[in-house]
Amino acid sequence: MSDIDFLIGNNISILSCPVCNTHLQKHQKSYNCTNGHNFDIAKQGYINLLQSNKKRSTAPGDNRNMINARRHFLEQRYYEPVSNLLNEVLSSHISHFTNGVPLQIVEVGSGDGYYINRLRETIHSCHDGNCYGVDISKQAAKIASTKYHNITFVVASAVELPFIKNSVDVLISLFSPFYEESAKQVLAKQGIIIQAVPLTNHLLELRQVLYKEVNINDTPKNILTQTNYFKLEETKILNHSIHLSDHSSIQNIFSMTPHYWKTSPERKRELSLLQQLDVTLEIEFRIYTNEN
Ligand SMILES: C[S@@+](CC[C@H](N)C(=O)[O-])C[C@H]1O[C@@H](n2cnc3c(N)ncnc32)[C@H](O)[C@@H]1O
Ligand SMILES: [Zn+2]
Repeated sequence: MSDIDFLIGNNISILSCPVCNTHLQKHQKSYNCTNGHNFDIAKQGYINLLQSNKKRSTAPGDNRNMINARRHFLEQRYYEPVSNLLNEVLSSHISHFTNGVPLQIVEVGSGDGYYINRLRETIHSCHDGNCYGVDISKQAAKIASTKYHNITFVVASAVELPFIKNSVDVLISLFSPFYEESAKQVLAKQGIIIQAVPLTNHLLELRQVLYKEVNINDTPKNILTQTNYFKLEETKILNHSIHLSDHSSIQNIFSMTPHYWKTSPERKRELSLLQQLDVTLEIEFRIYTNEN
């Protein structure tokens, strides 16, 4: 029996205890480790493994408004091409995994759970208990777990991912903070990382409404340009235009991005007058393997 069969057969997850780093075993209402540390499963289904001494604020991550804006926007299917490309990229990079053994897939910064859910529905080797969504925002885990019951949503930080060493086959990070030391710890030897980062023209038309001068060299801070641990295997660029045909879609896309925090009240007002907008999506998918 393989290690993973043993874990699944015994209801032991690849989640690790944030206090002592040993396996967490799932029970009806909680997860616990052999050292007696106990973590309740919230009524919505998520678990909180973020210890209060590791938080930089009382409610870290995206707030409820931002998560709901993202949910409504994604439900309109505007970002379906992004999700489709993620699923295609994953399908073309998993042939080296043993057939029949369920993949352990973790999305870090999973927000409202849209991408990990569509991925789970597409990738047949996924089944209950081996798709995880990690987000530092409790609101995100709450909203995601209310909607998607076959994914384990966990409140935790990308800085210290609560998974057993070398247990994660696929680590996904879409427009979210990424920390390579933590990723290195949890990624399996044969594991892959899929990262999506916005490029220069991403949401350009929205940024042109929001700022007097658009900073086109505003590169994302979380991109793995000089990685010590991983090998860049492939990149894929998505170039696509979406037509936002109503006021609420424009407000939603604005509220789900960091521009929400940076925009002046005057520019916000200007945006609120728009009834439609064509917006460019320009996103790079970066696929890394473990260098070992
Ligand atoms: C821009 S959103 C992207 C969400 C989702 N991946 C998507 O594309 O719809 C970034 C997400 O990362 C989460 N986040 C921010 N800092 C984090 C950290 N240190 N660890 C884990 N998640 C974090 C936020 O709460 C938010 O849900
Ligand atoms: Zn423990």
